[in-house]
Amino acid sequence: VHWKEEERAAISAIAEKVDLEHDGGEALGRLLFVYPWTQRYFSSFGSLSNEVAIAGNSKVQAHGKKVLGALHHAAHNLDSIKATLHDLSDTHANKLHVDPENFRRFAEVFVIVLATKLGSSFTPPIQAAFEKFFAVVVDALGHEYH
Ligand code: HEM
Repeated sequence: VHWKEEERAAISAIAEKVDLEHDGGEALGRLLFVYPWTQRYFSSFGSLSNEVAIAGNSKVQAHGKKVLGALHHAAHNLDSIKATLHDLSDTHANKLHVDPENFRRFAEVFVIVLATKLGSSFTPPIQAAFEKFFAVVVDALGHEYH
């Protein structure tokens, strides 16, 4: 993947503005609500039965933070995303058996969390850089699926 300087700058700007404590939980919560069949992977998380239960579920928050941590790491290693996410691809494919279509769905809800948070500073070029970043992430996470 070739990254233009503007794309690198846009991705670091987003990475700086993301709140690791909060935004991942919000995105994961949105995923679980909007696509309720994704809840099947999180049967150990307790109640996810409605919007309030999901938003108040500390396991969702903690897990969202882990997911964002991995994305943050990828954002800081743009030239080696595939290698950076190799082990996570293996885990999601061979241990967790997560349908890789859900990575795209996570990207979709995460972009909404970002747009809501960043408002008018989430310009078309910033969104374009983010979409490219996530396409590379999804491809890397899908790598170990055979
Ligand atoms: C675990 C990252 C998407 C389901 C994890 C972990 C990370 C992670 C860092 C912890 C791994 C560990 O503890 O060794 C990501 C990233 C994603 C993503 C970067 C980007 C899109 C998803 C999606 C699903 C999913 C969309 C399901 C719909 C799971 C499950 C676990 C897990 C079930 C294990 C949870 C547990 O029991 O602790 N993921 N994930 N992940 N992920 Fe993902």
